[in-house]
Amino acid sequence: MEHFYKKFDFRSDTVTVPTQEMREAMYKAEVGDDVLGEDPTMQHLERLAAEKVGKEAALFVTSGTQGNLVAVLTHTKRGDEVLMESEAHIYYYEVGGMSALGGVIPHLIQGSAGVITPEALRKALRGENIHFPTPSLLCIENSHNRAGGTIWTPKQVKVVAAVAQERGLHVHMDGARVFNAAIAQNCTVSELVAPVDSVMFCLSKGLGAPVGSILAGSSEFIKRARKYRKMLGGGMRQAGVLAAAGIVALESMIERLADDHTLALRIGQALVNIPHLSIDLERLKTNIVLVEVDPAWGTAEKLVQALEKDEILAADFGPQTVRLVTHKDVGELDAAKLVDTLKRIMAV
Ligand SMILES: Cc1ncc(COP(=O)(O)O)c(C=O)c1O
Repeated sequence: MEHFYKKFDFRSDTVTVPTQEMREAMYKAEVGDDVLGEDPTMQHLERLAAEKVGKEAALFVTSGTQGNLVAVLTHTKRGDEVLMESEAHIYYYEVGGMSALGGVIPHLIQGSAGVITPEALRKALRGENIHFPTPSLLCIENSHNRAGGTIWTPKQVKVVAAVAQERGLHVHMDGARVFNAAIAQNCTVSELVAPVDSVMFCLSKGLGAPVGSILAGSSEFIKRARKYRKMLGGGMRQAGVLAAAGIVALESMIERLADDHTLALRIGQALVNIPHLSIDLERLKTNIVLVEVDPAWGTAEKLVQALEKDEILAADFGPQTVRLVTHKDVGELDAAKLVDTLKRIMAV
């Protein structure tokens, strides 16, 4: 029932399929019209989600992209400047929604492993001048996807958020994988997100729910965010069927993320010894493994295609970079097959 995929799918944790327990919970879910505030299962999920991250209130959104966009719309007004790290998902992969729909301008700050320093942020905040857009929001990403699942520590979040907030900006965390970030450093998500005004995290991806993400923040923020979600067409009616899977995700799928991290590290350590592949083990903190392919051997695309011949799926993440992601639907045997196949491919 659980495995629909014949292939060994390391492209992303977005490919996870819902567990039996989730499917049963969805089947049995009590539902109502959530736009009218009448879906008890959704209300349960939103209360539970707020509790899990230590915020006053939470809102179920259709996707991480919608959650980030709703956050930007709620925190800013048209013409404002939104600061973020130069390879932030919200800039790189969200179809420019913040500019197209929110009318804001992104200001990119060069980071290191996805993390920006307080000094870099101070430098980017240029001060009042008639020529400049008004900076009103800082977005930080934890864990950071394009940097390879790298993490911000609670202290890094606190210090950088303080610089932004002193200057009157709000701070939003794109925490699509914030539970991975917390588990990897043995802290609670509440501790990690305490300094930020809002956080988005995904119930899909590593937590295995079929659909949906959560946006959390103050009650006042979530009240306004709910209206923006409606504006974007994200008001869902009998959404309790989705919330039911989300509840199972929050109650039973968080702790096991540690297994994904262990497996990712094991893969990373095995790849170190394979010719023409290199990997930065320092960066490998969560479930994302970035592998650099030696141009003398070929491109990332060539490697992805070679793996696919053996039914192994990996993501082409740049001209020389391949991304491998561990998740609940790949295990030790799949990882062993991946490593053996890579050894064989790279030997020729
Ligand atoms: C860091 C980060 N933020 C946001 C998203 C967007 O989530 P969704 O695919 O649910 O829109 C992703 C998806 O991979 C992500 O990695």
